[in-house]
Amino acid sequence: MIDLLKTRRSIRKYKNKEIEKEKVDTLLKAALLAPTSMGKRSWEFIAVTNKNLISELSTARKMGSQFLKGAPLVIVVVENPEATDAYIEDGAIASTLIQVTAHSMGLGSCWCHVRNRDRIDYDTTEAFIKTLLNIPENLKVECMLGIGYPDEERKAYTDEDLALNKLHYDKYSK
Ligand SMILES: Cc1cc2nc3c(=O)[nH]c(=O)nc-3n(C[C@H](O)[C@H](O)[C@H](O)COP(=O)(O)O)c2cc1C
Repeated sequence: MIDLLKTRRSIRKYKNKEIEKEKVDTLLKAALLAPTSMGKRSWEFIAVTNKNLISELSTARKMGSQFLKGAPLVIVVVENPEATDAYIEDGAIASTLIQVTAHSMGLGSCWCHVRNRDRIDYDTTEAFIKTLLNIPENLKVECMLGIGYPDEERKAYTDEDLALNKLHYDKYSK
């Protein structure tokens, strides 16, 4: 597991190659296996492979979403705030599991953030995605995960990259 975590990097360039259905199914199963607050499963997942929709999704932010255009798969992570007040944590954990599972199968992925982001001055990123994908009004969008076979190489992390100053033992130390 630690090697998997060290070699996982955000991948924003993807080969022009479809992801096999079994692998897509495995990614979605990984999402459904994520732990959730009080077991409420406050999330839902939309697997988008339609090229026109993906192209539209890549315009969802002023900056930071354009990389999605080349992805053969975008998983949109949706949350129900009425299910639990920990819905953001539920969505974030499931998203991370999708990313690590993708990496374990030779796929690259990158998170595109949605909450508190704008598409254009009068339209939020979230509102744009909800309209495009027919997402019900009461649900929130956590993120969009671009996924595909990597077409860029990113250096694995080593122990030297670890922010050891972020660690404390027993009590917070300055
Ligand atoms: C909550 C969150 C939001 C992110 N939002 C974006 C984003 O909108 N666009 C993007 O290109 N990358 C985004 N990323 C990817 C980060 O830039 C990336 O994880 C970080 O630079 C560390 O690089 P690494 O993933 O290769 O370790 C996001 C990552 C997280 C966890």
